[in-house]
Amino acid sequence: MKKIFFILICLLLFKTIFAVEGMWIPTLLKKFNIEEMQKMGFKLTAEDIYDVNHASMKDAIVLFGSGCTGEVISDDGLLITNHHCGFGQIQKHSTLAHDYLTDGFWAKNRFEELVNPGLSVQFLVKMEEVTQEVMKGAKEDLKDVDLKKLIASNIEAIKRSYAGITNYLVDVKPLFYGNQYFAYVYEVFKDVRLVGAPPASIGKFGGDTDNWVWPRHTGDFSLFRVYAGKDNKPASYSPDNQPYHPKKFFPINLKGIRKGDFTMVFGFPGSTQEYIPSQAVRLLIEKSNPIKVVARTIKLGIMENQMAADPKVRIQYASKYAGVSNVWKKWQGETRGLVRLHAVEKKEKEELEFSKWVSQNSSREKKYGAILEDFKKNYAELSDIQIAYDLYNETILRGSDVFGLIARVDQLAQSVNDTAKFSRQMRIIAEILPGYFKDYDGQTDQLILPALLKLYFERLDPKHLPEKLNSCKTDFINSTWVHDAYKRSLFSDSLKIKTLLLDFGAKQIKKLQKDDLYSLYVTISEYYRKNIEPTYLRLNQNIMKVQKAYMSAILEMKQDQRLMADANLTLRVTYGKIEGYEPMDGVYYEYYTTLKGMIDKQDPNITDYLVPEKLKQLYNAKDYGIYKNSTGELPIAFCASNHTTGGNSGSPVINANGELIGVNFDRCWEGTMSDLLFDPERCRNIALDIRYALFIIDKYAGAGYLLKEMNLIK
Ligand code: ARG
Ligand code: GLU
Repeated sequence: MKKIFFILICLLLFKTIFAVEGMWIPTLLKKFNIEEMQKMGFKLTAEDIYDVNHASMKDAIVLFGSGCTGEVISDDGLLITNHHCGFGQIQKHSTLAHDYLTDGFWAKNRFEELVNPGLSVQFLVKMEEVTQEVMKGAKEDLKDVDLKKLIASNIEAIKRSYAGITNYLVDVKPLFYGNQYFAYVYEVFKDVRLVGAPPASIGKFGGDTDNWVWPRHTGDFSLFRVYAGKDNKPASYSPDNQPYHPKKFFPINLKGIRKGDFTMVFGFPGSTQEYIPSQAVRLLIEKSNPIKVVARTIKLGIMENQMAADPKVRIQYASKYAGVSNVWKKWQGETRGLVRLHAVEKKEKEELEFSKWVSQNSSREKKYGAILEDFKKNYAELSDIQIAYDLYNETILRGSDVFGLIARVDQLAQSVNDTAKFSRQMRIIAEILPGYFKDYDGQTDQLILPALLKLYFERLDPKHLPEKLNSCKTDFINSTWVHDAYKRSLFSDSLKIKTLLLDFGAKQIKKLQKDDLYSLYVTISEYYRKNIEPTYLRLNQNIMKVQKAYMSAILEMKQDQRLMADANLTLRVTYGKIEGYEPMDGVYYEYYTTLKGMIDKQDPNITDYLVPEKLKQLYNAKDYGIYKNSTGELPIAFCASNHTTGGNSGSPVINANGELIGVNFDRCWEGTMSDLLFDPERCRNIALDIRYALFIIDKYAGAGYLLKEMNLIK
């Protein structure tokens, strides 16, 4: 009995050691993490991860586009990221004749690699804390506006101090709500070409049905190549550019993974909110998430029908659909997770402890005594307009395509007297127009607009609706009105809108005002901008100020503890172990999936579950080559307890020796509340097993020549 008890205790301890909450700053690993990492199995040093003077892992990692991560896997700048990160590019190169989305794409040689205007990748050259420099001259009694000005001008000065290092992008970002600042220096490469992508039936297998779900069988990867000028420095696109030779690229481990193995994810997590108060969590659970989910459910339903009915619309709306549905599903998991963890109550308890700590001495009272009350006041007010804000964003601003375009043109119209702003707006519109109309289907949009307007009118507190609309709101959701309005509108026709923009001025603005869709948008948005937005912004500003003070107090209260800074789309390290989890009572999920599971899941009647013929043949022949696991199966994905978030997509999953074992692409649904509250029992990141990616490249696509440039550890 005693022995069993002892084993149980050990197991429990073991279990709690595995998952480590936090997305850690690479320059501070030595101070806070490396010892723990090594205890968990990591065999290398903090300098192997981040070093300014020698090649280190950070030199093989990029911010891919504006919100994903990628890693270099060859000396010739070959880059792997997720299929869903390269999705926009793959889609842009796709037409009905060359449907790379459906069929996949593989450049047979470097000349066939496809150029992607607008896509860039950023390598971090270095980062350093600059809090003192940012706060230079800040005195206690400075007014808010003055403090803001001072900080902005200090930041500009810091950026200038890096000048001379050409080709570098310098960014200064706040951490802990502005209680700390870091400067980041990046090298930005703008010639990034598409090298390969599996068909959607592999790269997106499971589609939105399986999105955020473990167990998973998605081959979510795509390959790009970074190009540089002859001097190996960033250069804008030129056919003469050459593959970039990185300071470091990841070796790829084919020996496989085991439960309990140390793993680390190194990438660009976008944003988390680990320190918000109970009221904020309550608002999210009770109001914000639910209304946003309802709006998107309506939009997705319409898109789905239209896409199923017309192959052209399927391609046009593929990327938009994926974008809309992704957070839609996450919000639902997040709400459930927060409720299950009693997040509100947990926060309330923390706040109680906080107020006890504050009341322990009078100087704390003076500094922090009003914080909790201020949160309460501001959130109570915010709660009243949160729905109006969310509805406006989901149904008007980002609802129909046409309102999105109108919003841009409206901004242009408003800036006719400001030359710089005007030409900036004009440039943006000129850039987006071709893509807009390539992926625009009038019929689909005509269904989305009234459906979302209906929701807007129904769910918005009438006191937030312009008088003018209150009386005639049913007109705008009447299908005849909508049909005629679209037919007559300048915005449903690329030629009409281009002509209008050609020589844009007062006359054209008059013309705009006669456009029914334009005036409907303007009526709603003007009212919103006058009556809702200012309050929303004011409250949020107040809240941010309180939040900064709260954070500063927490940093003081927990000064002997290690605190994670919320993610801010900068390079972070998170580590954990390969392990499954218990999604619900009585069920345990294994840590890996295989091709066998994908074959079991296949269903010829469900698009998300179609398995390509060739993959079935490889399965039947068990032709897995060197990519099989120890049981002879072909691994596809695995899950592990690394604390990740959006932006970590495409991040390298690295083993104890610093070798690539997987590519991160998702989190499990039961763990999506980790952006606010991490649960070591249930929060898991989902990664593609690198062996599956290589198998697809080699055996499925016959692009094995790409493997020659990699460093494979067999
Ligand atoms: N959930 C993942 C992320 O947040 C993957 C999204 C893309 N996949 C999809 N089926 N929509 O980005
Ligand atoms: N799929 C996400 C991304 O694009 C990663 C999943 C997550 O949010 O953890 O970054």
